[in-house]
Amino acid sequence: IHPTAARRPHAITVQSENTLYTEEHITSKFFNRGSNVSVSDGHFTITPTVQPYEFQTKRTVGKTGLLLIGVGGNNGTTLAATILANRHNITWHTKQGIQQPNYIGSLLRASTVRIGTDAATGNDVHVPVSDVLPMVHPNDLVLGGWDISGLRLDKAMERAQVLDYDLQRQVAPFMAQLGAPLPSIYYPDFIAANQEARADNVIPGTDKQAHLDQIRADIRKFKADNELDRVIVFWTANTERYSDIIPGVNDTADAILASIKSSHSEVSPSSLFAVAAILEGEPFVNGAPQNTFVPGIIALAERHQSFIGGDDLKSGQTKLKSVLAEFLVNAGIKPLSIASYNHLGNNDGHNLSAERQFRSKEISKSSVVDDMVDANRLLYKAPAAGEKGKGEHPDHIVVIKYVPAVGDSKRAIDEYYSEIFCGGRSTINIFNECEDSLLATPLILDLAILTELLTRVKYRQLPADGSAAQKDFAPLYPVLSLLSYMLKAPLVKPGTEVVNSLNRQRNALESFLKACIGVEGSSDLLLETRIW
Ligand code: NAI
Repeated sequence: IHPTAARRPHAITVQSENTLYTEEHITSKFFNRGSNVSVSDGHFTITPTVQPYEFQTKRTVGKTGLLLIGVGGNNGTTLAATILANRHNITWHTKQGIQQPNYIGSLLRASTVRIGTDAATGNDVHVPVSDVLPMVHPNDLVLGGWDISGLRLDKAMERAQVLDYDLQRQVAPFMAQLGAPLPSIYYPDFIAANQEARADNVIPGTDKQAHLDQIRADIRKFKADNELDRVIVFWTANTERYSDIIPGVNDTADAILASIKSSHSEVSPSSLFAVAAILEGEPFVNGAPQNTFVPGIIALAERHQSFIGGDDLKSGQTKLKSVLAEFLVNAGIKPLSIASYNHLGNNDGHNLSAERQFRSKEISKSSVVDDMVDANRLLYKAPAAGEKGKGEHPDHIVVIKYVPAVGDSKRAIDEYYSEIFCGGRSTINIFNECEDSLLATPLILDLAILTELLTRVKYRQLPADGSAAQKDFAPLYPVLSLLSYMLKAPLVKPGTEVVNSLNRQRNALESFLKACIGVEGSSDLLLETRIW
């Protein structure tokens, strides 16, 4: 697909000695303020800290490709069709009237950030998040991808049964131009046996090194054919089972490369795609829950300074849970149990009806309240000294059932049962009905667009005494935890804590984008409204 949409000029200018604009870069100075805390005999001693940094963002948004693994599935075809509808401004009839294409559900394209106050009125000023820094427009993404099902994309869209017929009808010729997906890697042991009937488009043989080489060649060809500066490789294929972590097989960068050479059975297709992207120097994002990023792959990404992000799109139930559980715990209310049921009838649901694939999803959905519970030891007892485990924790179960009749319209039912004042109990029940792929697709776009942006941002630490910089600018750490807002089980730098709170994830992203233009993070203090 060749982009048609005009690029918009960058809409914000910051006038400050901390922000410098050149033809090529925006360079900003940022003071990272924190507090060091030491605890002794139950007493906390807090020392405020400040460390200056500089961020340098390349202003030119390169021509960007998005290669989807699983492009013939519900998410893949919905993403392609909705980008085409937006690009060609296709409107369609529904029983409610005429529908315009849009990007509702995308944090970048459909939400705003408070950038300051109007000097004249004192009112808040909000801008679209996508205006804070130069970002690729979704209409400009060049699309391609692989699927083990060889159905042409117009027919695959029909099979997905997500979009209104009148939209499908009009977008089908454009989808047909995209052709059929590239053949992919299929190891039946990793996805449910019920997917076998789809697998008619697979790279032949069992040699994993040859498979890796083929995928690398596909990425290179796509990049060259479309004259791209950057390709984001994105897993939106079936959920795989977990890979066993085996010393000497996938625990180090050299081990995983050797295991690919020897076609070891524990190397999954998604891990092969990740390695291909890393070796090609292109970012890889995992939209599904399995442990694609075994320790050896994280180490390989570090070695090649190649960006990775994951895991599992956070579209409905988990997103709400990360808000609701935090709300309860921060309100001083103690959730005792969270019971979550889902049923869905799309192909994802079919695949998840198999035990080992369900288990991947269960793990990904289960850790989401951990950090909120850990942050409140008034409500939940910490593990006793020497005791293993997480300490006191609400009971938390997740059930997923396949009900073909409901198709892509997933039902999520959650019960939050909490202890309230003086022995009282509160029960909140949520019934969440959502069109799965229509929630997931904008997240894929946000992830791809943010990832492209983060490849253009470099940083350096400045001496704290205000003297001149001594270091060169360097890229960010390869694991892009700034993507956490869109992901159920965020992958973070090894040894650092996972933040699941949706509010904290969003604040981190907002503060980072603002830091890159030299504007301090959002202050809800609003001091001027509280003083004379
Ligand atoms: P889907 O089943 O409709 O699509 C997956 C596609 O991947 C299928 O076309 C299948 O043929 C293909 N595939 C399977 N193995 C492959 C391989 N090795 N190489 C290339 N293609 C392969 O599923 P859907 O609904 O599009 O979801 C995709 C993934 O995203 C699933 O893992 C799902 O768990 C995850 N996800 C989806 C969310 C949603 O709301 N739709 C939310 C969170 C995660």
